[in-house]
Amino acid sequence: MLTQRTQHMEYAIRDVVIPAMKLEKQGHTILKLNIGDPCKYDFDAPEYAKQAYINAIKQGKSFYGCSNGITEAKKAIIQREKTINDVTANEDQILINSGVSETINFLCGSLIEQGKEMLIPSPSYPQYLSFPNFFGGKAIEYKCDFNDHWNPDLEDIKEKINSNTAALAVINPNNPTGAIYSKETLEGLAEIAADKKIPLISDEIYDEITFTDYNCFTKIALDRGASIVQMNGMSKNFFAPGWRIGYAIYHNCPEILNSCSAQARTRLCSNTPAQYAMAASLNGSRDFLKENKQKLSRRMDVVGRKCKEYGLAHVKPKGAFYDFIKINTENDKQWVLDLLQEKHVLTVFGSGFGEQGKGFIRIVTLPQEEVLEEAFDRIGEFIQGK
Ligand SMILES: Cc1ncc(COP(=O)(O)O)c(C=O)c1O
Repeated sequence: MLTQRTQHMEYAIRDVVIPAMKLEKQGHTILKLNIGDPCKYDFDAPEYAKQAYINAIKQGKSFYGCSNGITEAKKAIIQREKTINDVTANEDQILINSGVSETINFLCGSLIEQGKEMLIPSPSYPQYLSFPNFFGGKAIEYKCDFNDHWNPDLEDIKEKINSNTAALAVINPNNPTGAIYSKETLEGLAEIAADKKIPLISDEIYDEITFTDYNCFTKIALDRGASIVQMNGMSKNFFAPGWRIGYAIYHNCPEILNSCSAQARTRLCSNTPAQYAMAASLNGSRDFLKENKQKLSRRMDVVGRKCKEYGLAHVKPKGAFYDFIKINTENDKQWVLDLLQEKHVLTVFGSGFGEQGKGFIRIVTLPQEEVLEEAFDRIGEFIQGK
């Protein structure tokens, strides 16, 4: 009775929550290192952004907005991209949406059908694995190399491009690895796409949560004449994932924009008060971010120290709030479930992020230092008991 396309949908990050909830119901406390939601830990959206959201509601801005987004937010996006990334855009290129997730959905709706392929990083944020298949096409994973700071393997990408390749997705800074790609790698990616005339999808949702030099992929791709859909939003940089608001800028690809806009009209508009909050925030003070990045950096250091203590291999993350850690097992899903049952620590199995994630776990570096210490001591005991 149900459609084939929903039969195999998986979302590893949330799938592991079900057994954890069972344990909680039995009265156990779970140390949660699984979900990339800063608000579930001690992070929160800045006060001025929250106030702008409240003001919008109080001022009666609860109407349906234009399907592609309100002008005030588009103007703020243009200014933000110019100031932070030196990327130029105009209002007609922008589609405001309910977060990057909705853009991925729209893009697959526009570009993917039976026989079409989307090249995605491996390991990858799970939505990139699910959506192309949901739309009848295929997600083709390209290798990101643990031994090269998780940079994409350009040769592997070239080998996998064929006449069915509809788009090439890049996530930088990356979830789940926390990698920030080298400038040379980004230039190589842009050159491949420009040469083969493949539209790029650039997920830049963590672009202000960086701890080393960061280069904006969109800027590099535009300098080489590529077509690129640049995606960002309020979820991570502004610690407001539940507001469900983000944006995409369609550079050099008007047909894709038209097709995504047609889909956007069918869902009327994205959350209007949240758009006003985004308009007031994108160019606002970043003092809150400075403090939060210091906090995150200390937590990342705890994870690094603990990995060393227990002999766990990983690449020190340079951005976002994840660490992707090697565990010596063939079956990382079972390992994660056993760790949960025996030590009440919740992580996500690496294979849920694709082929290259096999034999790894993803943890978030968001919990407080003492929670991370305790969780890793339990992981250490778990490994020693095996
Ligand atoms: C790489 C990446 N892209 C997109 C998203 C989802 O973004 P949004 O909340 O804007 O839908 C996430 C969430 O974890 C992510 O890690």
